[in-house]
Amino acid sequence: MEAKGFNFQSDTDTEVLVQLISYLYKKDGNDFAGAVRHALSQVVGAYGIVVMCTDVPDMLVAARFGSPLVLGIGEGEIIVASDSSPIIEYTRKIIYIDEGEMACIRRDDFEVRNILENKLVNKNVQHIEYSLDQIEKGGYPHFMLKEIYEQEESIWAATRGRIDFKNKTIKLGGIQDILGRILDAHQIYITACGTSWHASLIGSYAIEELVGIPVKVEYASEFRYRNTPVNHKSIVIAVSQSGETADTLAAIRLAKQKGALTLGIVNVVGSSIARETDCGVYIHAGPEIGVASTKAFTSQVVVLNLIAALLAQSKDLNLPQRERMIDDFEQIQKKVERILELSESIKSVAADFYDATGFLYLGRGFQFPVALEGALKLKEISYIHAEGYPAAEMKHGPIALIDENMPVVFIVTETGFDKIISNIQQVRARNGRIIIITTTSAPELHKYSDHIIRIPHIHKFLAPLLTTIPLQLLAYHSAVLKGCNVDQPRNLAKSVTVE
Ligand code: AGP
Repeated sequence: MEAKGFNFQSDTDTEVLVQLISYLYKKDGNDFAGAVRHALSQVVGAYGIVVMCTDVPDMLVAARFGSPLVLGIGEGEIIVASDSSPIIEYTRKIIYIDEGEMACIRRDDFEVRNILENKLVNKNVQHIEYSLDQIEKGGYPHFMLKEIYEQEESIWAATRGRIDFKNKTIKLGGIQDILGRILDAHQIYITACGTSWHASLIGSYAIEELVGIPVKVEYASEFRYRNTPVNHKSIVIAVSQSGETADTLAAIRLAKQKGALTLGIVNVVGSSIARETDCGVYIHAGPEIGVASTKAFTSQVVVLNLIAALLAQSKDLNLPQRERMIDDFEQIQKKVERILELSESIKSVAADFYDATGFLYLGRGFQFPVALEGALKLKEISYIHAEGYPAAEMKHGPIALIDENMPVVFIVTETGFDKIISNIQQVRARNGRIIIITTTSAPELHKYSDHIIRIPHIHKFLAPLLTTIPLQLLAYHSAVLKGCNVDQPRNLAKSVTVE
């Protein structure tokens, strides 16, 4: 285009697209929608765009490939956005634009076409059910804090209608019909990114322990470029809050191409992953606005545990474990409430440590993914470097970092208690500063810790739901004390719709 005399004012791909559309518009006889369509047939890469033309002021052309795009159908207006949350103040009627589609929009009407074939596509209007209250701060200073507190309800919402507490059984409408195929699978893959990946790891432990099927958890960005032995005997589960993460979506498409049955565990209803997977289970956490994921994580862990227990139930396996899990689900709201009451004391822990330059988070078994999640929360919102490790791995490297300046957060439950005590002693012997989050009442933990946060005891499969909350609060209070932008940390996006 430069050779044709175009003069670019910026280094952005957006400008290249604008210039290309403008060139084709003049070349093809001033057909605005046609010029956008021709330009998009030539470009490579992901986009979600809205185009205006000064010659056609009553029309917008919106198009999608790789990035989400929705239309809100209002009274005498049509709104374009990448997500339904900003639209619901104006209308509950939403149309999801699919991959490779473009919409030509006027004030009162619109038409959707397939970009490559230029064929008209019929779109269904969907009704959004969540309310404006759910996406406002409701008196909290930050969405993240509101969402941490909402976990008392959202954890419960993920179980609603799915657990029969009287008969101690589980039912998940979204996968009931394909249980046989899942149980016949040679292997289950779970693919996800970031926090959703941490939840997936917990889910894999639960499925392997309760059902005995091997489960592999893969970063979606790795899965999509690795030649995994996935075939028609595989189940590939995608876990995603937004349902729009580009790598997770691409992983699911690849899995489908290879013949696998795909299952989505998603929060945003109607999102791309929810629509493109063969079946799935919504986590029903409600809108999550804070960039740092909190309530979606705990709801994902709930749903993955329910899937594990349902599969075990279908094979008549591990009845005592399942019954214990169901009993503990019944108690969970009260226990979450008690943890949330600890917010002020966790704030004083944050006040002691928020100027540290690095943190280690250590846990064993089901608490290892929690350690990863705690470290991720701290680094993404307070910009303090933090690493999560299996506690016993410390001696294979990270122990070299420990001195009087290094805070180490230990997550201690009854499982592997003796072993983790010895890890704590190793840190103590090197003058590390110790914060313990524990579901135990073990008195000896006091003598090893600078701070100890005691939380209620619960079944080991559900313990991550409780142990994660103090870590979310620790990250939150540290970030606030440092004056960071909690809800929109630098360089991060809520949903990563590009590679
Ligand atoms: C979580 O706090 C992060 N912001 C991020 O790791 C996130 O979990 C990841 O991008 C995956 O998003 P998804 O669940 O919407 O797919």
